[in-house]
Amino acid sequence: MDRETQINAIDRYIQSVFTHDSTGHDVYHMRRVANLAKSIAIDEQANIFLVEAGALLHDIGDKKLFPDPSQSIRDMKEFLFSIDLSDDDVHVLEDMIADISFSKGAVPIGLEGKIIQDADRLDAIGAVGIARTFAFGGAHGQSIYSPKDKRTSIHHFYDKLLKLKDTLHTRKAKELAEKRHQFLHTFLEQFFNEWKFKNE
Ligand code: ADP
Ligand code: NI
Repeated sequence: MDRETQINAIDRYIQSVFTHDSTGHDVYHMRRVANLAKSIAIDEQANIFLVEAGALLHDIGDKKLFPDPSQSIRDMKEFLFSIDLSDDDVHVLEDMIADISFSKGAVPIGLEGKIIQDADRLDAIGAVGIARTFAFGGAHGQSIYSPKDKRTSIHHFYDKLLKLKDTLHTRKAKELAEKRHQFLHTFLEQFFNEWKFKNE
């Protein structure tokens, strides 16, 4: 199987794994991360196949998304062998995706993993990032905002989203982050203007 056919097969696999997600981790998240990661990989002269495949697969094994995370990894490996990926590639991908998640606080060792982590973080900021934050919050029973409650979706902007820009590894990702980061500030400014509005 050639590389393009393998990528298409991985895309179809991801589509079947991430059905009905309403927490911001649907197949479109995987595809946006794959596209962003590919454009960073070109800039960094990294291995494009590993970056694209790893980006599509990066949320497999996440304990927030899978009731049995290690089973989801075993299923993924079985699938990757079935489309003729080598032992080496499968193990590289498995190690790579284990280090990407923000919640784990790990820094991937290789360039390809760092690129995917950057792309995943870019998809958590900007307009799409804002939409995903409220989707995630809603799916987890969290309020939009309350001055009394510290665990709201608006608090998540300060806890995490506004900090993401300074955790990026690559030149291209830092460049792409600027506009998205600025948009978070614009959104928050407007949000609090509307929140405080009094018609008297
Ligand atoms: P990762 O998948 O890298 O571990 P997260 O699961 O923390 O990262 O974040 C994935 C998405 O879910 C992001 O868009 C993030 O903003 C959103 N998210 C995570 N935690 C919260 C939260 N407490 N409130 C609102 N959104 C959240
Ligand atoms: Ni992700």
